[in-house]
Amino acid sequence: MTLTGELKWWQSGIIYQIYPRSFQDASGDGVGDLRGITARLPYVASLGVEAVWLSPIFTSPMRDFGYDVADYCDIDPLFGTLEDFDALVAEAHRLGLKVMLDYVPNHSSSDHPWFQEALRGKDSDKRDWYVWRDPAPGGGVPNNWKSFFGGPAWTLDEASGQYYLHQFLPTQPDLNWRNPAVRAAMFEALRFWMRRGVDGFRVDVIWLLAEDERFLDEPVNSDWRPGEIEHASLEHIYTQDQPETHEYIREMRAVLDEFDDRMMVGEIYLPVEKLLPFAGTADAPMVHLPFNFHLILMPWDAEQIRAFADRYDGACRAAHTWPNWVLGNHDQHRFRTRVGDAQYRVAQTLLLTLRGTPTVYYGDEIGMRNVPVPPERMVDPAGLQQPDTPAAGRDPERTPMQWDTTPNAGFSAPGTEPWLPLAEDFAAVNVQVQEADPNSDLHYFRALTRLRREHPALVGGDYRSLDTGHPDVFAFERTLEAGRVVVALNFGAQTRDLGEVLGGECLLSSLGDQPQPGAPLRPNEARVLRG
Ligand code: GLC
Repeated sequence: MTLTGELKWWQSGIIYQIYPRSFQDASGDGVGDLRGITARLPYVASLGVEAVWLSPIFTSPMRDFGYDVADYCDIDPLFGTLEDFDALVAEAHRLGLKVMLDYVPNHSSSDHPWFQEALRGKDSDKRDWYVWRDPAPGGGVPNNWKSFFGGPAWTLDEASGQYYLHQFLPTQPDLNWRNPAVRAAMFEALRFWMRRGVDGFRVDVIWLLAEDERFLDEPVNSDWRPGEIEHASLEHIYTQDQPETHEYIREMRAVLDEFDDRMMVGEIYLPVEKLLPFAGTADAPMVHLPFNFHLILMPWDAEQIRAFADRYDGACRAAHTWPNWVLGNHDQHRFRTRVGDAQYRVAQTLLLTLRGTPTVYYGDEIGMRNVPVPPERMVDPAGLQQPDTPAAGRDPERTPMQWDTTPNAGFSAPGTEPWLPLAEDFAAVNVQVQEADPNSDLHYFRALTRLRREHPALVGGDYRSLDTGHPDVFAFERTLEAGRVVVALNFGAQTRDLGEVLGGECLLSSLGDQPQPGAPLRPNEARVLRG
C-alpha cells in the first residue's frame, strides 16, 4: 500500500499519448501541429490525466514520421517553432499537465549532420558515431542481423565499401553508443529540453542501444511462423538487452537526476523477468517505468490476464518497481478493434484500475477503431516494406482525432486532405457528440478517472485477485488503509453470479446503470464496487 501523497506524479497520474501528426491541424496543411495541440489541451486536462507524451516533434525528413531525427534540439517546421513549443509547455503547466517528449537515442536520421559528416569517409571525426563494418569475408552483409522493418540491418556505403547498421530503415542509422562523445551529445539534448521545462521522456527502443561487439550471426528462432514479421525469425541475443545498454541507461538516468522531479519511461518489448531489471536498483536507478506491453501481446482471456497481473504485480513488488499498463500506442492496432466492441469498456476499466501507471493513446477515450487505409493512401514504411505482412502497417491506428461532425471531423479545416483518411464512422464517434451524451464512452472514461481521484485505493492501494469461480470473470480488490474497492470484469457473454464479491455498493457499471449490491455480473459488464 502506498498513500497517494507519497507517490510521484508519474505513479499516481495517467499518461496520455498524443501522436502530433494526428491530433489537431491548426495550420491547414492536413498534418497536426503544436499550435493545434495547445488549443486542445483544455480537453486533455478535462479527461483527468496527468501528463501528455508527444511522439517526436523534432526536425526530421519524416521517413519514419519523426522517429528519424535530423536535429535533436529543434522543432520540425511542419509542427511549428520553438516558440510554439514554449507556448505549449506554458499552457500545459497552467492547466496542471506535465509534458513528456519522445527521445530517440538509438538512431538518428541519415540526414542528421553527424551522419552526413560520417559519410565523408573512414577518417571523418564523426565516423565512429555510427556502427560500421567491413563486408563479410566472401563479400556481402557483415552478418545476418535483420531490420525491424524487413530486410537486412546493414546498408552498403559504396564510397567507403563499408556497411552501416540500421535496426530500422536504411535512413535511420544506429548511433554508436559505445562512443562517449555520442553519449555526451545525446545527453546534452536531454538537458536542452529539461531546461525548457520538459517534465519527462518516453525513450524510443531503449533496449536496443548496444550491440554485441563480436557481431556474430543471431540464431534462428524456431518458433517463427510465416506471416509473422521477418525480424522475428531470429533470436536477438546480440542486438537486444546487452549489459552495456544497462550501463548507458544508468548514465542517462543520472542526467535526468540533475533536474528536479523528471522521469523517463522506456520502450521495451521483453518478458517480465528481463523487463523489470530496466528499472535498476535504489543505488543504481535506470528508467522510472519500463513500459509493460503485455496486455497488448497477450490473448484477451480472463484467466491468462489474471495470471499475468498476479505475476507482474508480485514481480514489481519484489523488485521495488512501480507497475504500469498499456493497451494502445502508435505501433499497435487500436484496442477497441483488438478486443471487440463488446469488451471495449471492460478493457478500459482494467487499464484504469489495475495497480500502476496507465498510458492512454489519443482517441481511445472515445473508442476510436482501426481505420482501414486503402493501398494508395498507405504511408507507413513498416507496412510498405512488408507487403506480405499486412498487420505490420501502422497507419490504421494513426488516423486523425475525431473532434466533431464537420467534414474533416474538426481535425483539419474542411477542404483540406488530412494526411491519413478519417474513420468512416467519425460523425457518430467524436468528442462533440459524446460530450452531449451522458452514456458515451468519453463520459465513461471520465467517470473512471474521477473514481481514481475519489478513491485513493485505486491509485496507491494493494492489488489482490479474487476467486470468482468463473474462468471468464476476472475480479480483484484494491485496498488502502480502510478503503477497499472491488473491480469485476466479465470477459464473456454469460451472466455470472459472484455472490459476496459483488456485495458492495456499485460505484460504476460499464452498462451505465447502478445494479443492487449482489446483483449478478451481466455479459461483458465491468463493475467497480465499494469494498
Ligand atoms: C519505436 C517507435 C516506432 C518507430 C521505431 C523506430 O518502436 O515506437 O514508431 O518506428 O521505434 O524509431
